[in-house]
This record gives sequence, structure tokens and C-alpha cells, in this order.
Amino acid sequence: MKIMILGSGAREYSIALALKRVDNNLELYFAPGNGATKSLGTNLNLKDPVVLATYAKEKNFDLCIVGSESFLAEGIVDIFKQQGLAIFGPSKAAAMLETSKSFMKSFLKKYRIKTAKFLNTNDLNKAKAFIYSLTPPIVVKADGLCAGKGVIIAKTHEEAIEQTAKMLSGESFGDAGKLVIIEEFLEGFELSIFAVCDGNDFVLLPVAQDHKKLLDNDQGPNTGGMGAYAPSSLANESLLRKIQKDIILPTLAGMKKEGSEFCGVLFIGAMIVGNKPYVLEFNVRFGDPECEVLMPLIENPLELILAATQRRLRHAKIIIKKEYAVGVVCASKNYPYESSPKSEITINNIPKNTHISYAGVSLEDEKLMADGGRVLVCVGTGKSIKEAQENAYKLCDNVHFEGKQFRKDIAYQVLK
Ligand code: AMP
Ligand code: GLY
Repeated sequence: MKIMILGSGAREYSIALALKRVDNNLELYFAPGNGATKSLGTNLNLKDPVVLATYAKEKNFDLCIVGSESFLAEGIVDIFKQQGLAIFGPSKAAAMLETSKSFMKSFLKKYRIKTAKFLNTNDLNKAKAFIYSLTPPIVVKADGLCAGKGVIIAKTHEEAIEQTAKMLSGESFGDAGKLVIIEEFLEGFELSIFAVCDGNDFVLLPVAQDHKKLLDNDQGPNTGGMGAYAPSSLANESLLRKIQKDIILPTLAGMKKEGSEFCGVLFIGAMIVGNKPYVLEFNVRFGDPECEVLMPLIENPLELILAATQRRLRHAKIIIKKEYAVGVVCASKNYPYESSPKSEITINNIPKNTHISYAGVSLEDEKLMADGGRVLVCVGTGKSIKEAQENAYKLCDNVHFEGKQFRKDIAYQVLK
């Protein structure tokens, strides 16, 4: 089987690794991939969705898996389907659950799915009136994709108004901010929920938690995510039932009613307030670094993705292992502020029940180099979260590159 994977991060690497575990004969192609995906398949220097579809058709690809949202926002799924090609991911219209926060919030309201009280507007005066009706902190969000930077938590009414004005004028985020969402602040804990969907049915994956702050104890600036673990014991049975009944099912039914059936990964950024789940955001692809801890827990990931793409999840038998996984992101020295000089990655040994998922790496003279940003993820698995964590950190101590930084407390939420 020939499979194309779109993206360049550790998320895409971890998907590839999981597929290779199932069938080492799979032929994998990455666009664009990274310095390490070359060891799992072939990197393609192609970006344009139409060019990718033409290439996939010419080479008789069996499946395309979309890792990163940027391709989905461009409508790559529609383009592949027009060519009769199999692709795992939502259509451009269904991807609006992630690409337009105002669409997402209006959708949630229409289908009575719990979310923070909000106003969508492009009018500063209306925004002001709503801001004064809320008690700070107040959340201000840009409508469009802003690479995870489009959310401001303002401590005062004045700050919220100032940030809103900057977004509406285009100063903060260009066109992505010309429509804003003002939101009440919800206090609770966050979970990353993943449902793999085929339009009608879904498979719920183990519940994960991300660690967005750079430093231990959730201090420092926001990042793309410094680590994750799954499954989380913070999601009890009654909460999981509510998430399925009150969020996932009405979302699938609602999208169908809107004429945009949802196929692919529905990633719910949920805030749990007193055992009640609220939708903070939807994403329409796997989370990164959550994907890196989910892939090792799925016994048959290829069957999961094929069954979702072929709309036969209801009859598929997807097996989730009774194990835990912890992933610790090792980032370069200056992350997330600025780029870092390249440096060679050396690995002493790979302990049992651990592996690496690579992200910001390049190959130079056969040497694997740390190339800035989030460089790699050390993943440990085990029969308990503690064992998985110990394994992940054993691996961290065996991996070296200049300026390596990582959090020492991944999974602290369930190990207190
Ligand atoms: P989003 O991209 O909408 O998930 O927002 C990014 C982060 O901002 C979330 O992961 C939360 O930590 C925080 N956040 C967003 N909306 C709210 C809210 N209404 N209340 C509290 N925190 C929020
Ligand atoms: N881990 C959060 C994200 O992928 O958006």
C-alpha cells in the first residue's frame, strides 16, 4: 500500500511509525516531512493541493492522511475526492469548525452544545458593551487561524477593549482578526478529546492532556505544547458519557444537517467545569503533541484510519491497548522566542518501552541535526502512568543536542 502523510512535525512522524509497526511493507511518502521521516519513507517537496492530488493519482496512491490543518483549510480533501482519491480528513466546509471560530461558536449555540458565553462581532461598540457585561478576566479571540496565537486572556475591561480594537483594525492578526469573539472566562481543567469520525459514527480515543506552557508548573510563555500523556484519569466514566452524548453526537448530527458531514479527527479542546464539559475549541486534526502519545496506544491504527475514510467505523473493531503513554517534548535552546543554531543529535541508547518522534530535525552529511523549535518527543509507555513517565524521562536523559530544554513534570496532573 502507498500512503501519503501531509505535514512535517512529530505528529506526522508518529503516525508513520504507528503504521510501520502494523505493516513494515507500507510505502510511505511525506509532504514535506522532516529530516527523520526520510528514514521511514520518501519526502516530497510538494505543497500545492492540486499538485499533490495529481502526483497521488499518477503514482496510484492508496491513501492520503492529512496531519496539519493548513492543508485542510485549503480544501485538499475536496480536491483529492474530486480526483477519486482516498483521503482521511474533513472537507473545507467541515474544517470550518477549526478555521473559523465564529462559525464554530454559532454552530455550538445552534445545536445547544455547552460553550463559554460569547459574542461574535466586527463592531467595536458592540464588543465594548458585551465586554462591560462580563467580569474579568475576559477572553478575546481572533476568528481565523493564527498558529495558536489568536487568543488573549485580558485581565481588565480596558485591556480587553484595547486588544479587540487591535484585532479589528487588522494590527494584531491581519484578516484573521477582523472578526472577533469575546468570551466569558471558564475556570476548570482542560482535556484534549479525540473522536475519529466517518460522518455518522466515531471511535473515541484515550483522553489526553497537553502542557502548553514552556516551564514546569505551567509557568512561562505559551508554546505549541511541551508534552502530553494519555489516558488521563481526570476523565471519569460519567464525564466521558457526557462528552459523547452532549458534544460528539450532536456535533456529528449538526454537521450532517448543515450539509457538511464530518469525517476525520474531531479534536475537542474541552474545559471541565464541575464535571461538566464545555467546548473551548474544535480542531479538525490530531493534536501535536497529543498524537505522539495516542498512536502507541492504538493496536490497529491503519484499520482505524481506513475504516473512517471508507465510512465503515460502525463495523470496525478498533483495539485500544490497556497501557499508558507519556511524551516529553525536547525543544531547542531559544524556543519559543527565536531560532537556535543547528546542532547534532546524539543518542546513547533507546531504553525498553521508549521511542522518539522527530519534529524539527534535518539531515546533513548523514547526521541528524536539531533544527530549532520543537526538535523531538521522547515517548515512554508502561502499565501505569508513573511507569510511562519514568520511561519517557530515561529516554530524555539518553538524547543530547546543544541547548536541549524540556519540562520535568509532564503528567503531573495525575501524579500529584
Ligand atoms: P483556544 O485556541 O480557543 O483553545 O484557546 C487557547 C487557550 O486559551 C485554551 O487552551 C485555554 O487555555 C484558553 N482559553 C480559551 N478560551 C477560554 C475560556 N473561555 N476560558 C478560559 N480559558 C480559555
Ligand atoms: N496540542 C494542541 C494542538 O495541536 O493544537
